[in-house]
Amino acid sequence: EWTPKSFAEHSVAELKEKIGSEKVLMALSGGVDSTVAATLLDRAIGDNLICFFVDNGLLRKGEYQQVLDSYEHLGLNVHGIDAKNHFYEELKGVTNPEAKRKIIGRLFIEVFEAEAAKYPGVKWLGQGTIYPDVIESVSVHGPSVTIKSHHNVGGLPDKMGLKIVEPLRMLFKDEVRRVGKELEIPVNILQRHPFPGPGLGIRILGEVNAEKVKLLQDADAIYIDNLRKFGLYDQVWQAGTILLPIQSVGVMGDERTYEQAVALRAVNSVDGMTAEWSHLPYEFLAKVSSEIINNVKGINRVVYDISTKPPATIEWE
Ligand code: XMP
Repeated sequence: EWTPKSFAEHSVAELKEKIGSEKVLMALSGGVDSTVAATLLDRAIGDNLICFFVDNGLLRKGEYQQVLDSYEHLGLNVHGIDAKNHFYEELKGVTNPEAKRKIIGRLFIEVFEAEAAKYPGVKWLGQGTIYPDVIESVSVHGPSVTIKSHHNVGGLPDKMGLKIVEPLRMLFKDEVRRVGKELEIPVNILQRHPFPGPGLGIRILGEVNAEKVKLLQDADAIYIDNLRKFGLYDQVWQAGTILLPIQSVGVMGDERTYEQAVALRAVNSVDGMTAEWSHLPYEFLAKVSSEIINNVKGINRVVYDISTKPPATIEWE
């Protein structure tokens, strides 16, 4: 019988056997899969696992530090890399969603390679691939890839001459979470909503810059914190805030304002392929809207996205 405990024990023994005293490099994302995979590797080979966590400047508010702290708490040998300005620099003037994805993906690989070069003699690349990713990468012409090129490091191992190790290759998401629980990974990581690789870069419609990221991070933090406070976070599959490239008129005191708008998105889904908009309570939406408008200078309007996928997508870009 499959249990998380027996899986973890087996996996650790197998990884020890397979990797021996060689070194493994791994990029972590802050998500469930890479964290669970890294923790299994850590149990097997300890500090011969060298992890990187890149700040691309497109993470949620405070997330870089929180995630790094959790990793250190888990005992992972992790190096944080602050590459924010590099990403902002290269994203200057770029408005096309696919062009932004390509730049973000390319920079991620460049940053990773530059860091990896500091560890010559490494033989392995660790990845948090799970079973559904294995199936998806077989059907490379599936809609998710042709409509939106998802962030991946597909070409990296070949280029760097690394062998791949994927401890979660045979597991489904719920099994990964159960293994994570067994390994005492904190719930804030295990229950975290999916978050796209290009991050806030595709939730800022149009050109990305540091000021817009700050604006969106502040609004989004109010939304996500309130989802938790109202006990709604675990009831939606994914939620996020989108910064719209429009200004609209408002009044604040006796002043007329002309500022930006954000859209709130929350969906229920099984695998992200189809999605229903979440019927969040009006009192919750009212609270989030007034908190954002009263506290985030530069935003005077909040709207709620009531589109189903298909034909809409979950993200706006
Ligand atoms: P869409 O917008 O296609 O999103 O309905 C479906 C799921 O995929 C995520 N998503 C991405 N994830 N890189 C990623 O790693 C991407 O470029 C990307 N685009 C969308 C999205 O957040 C949702 O969970």
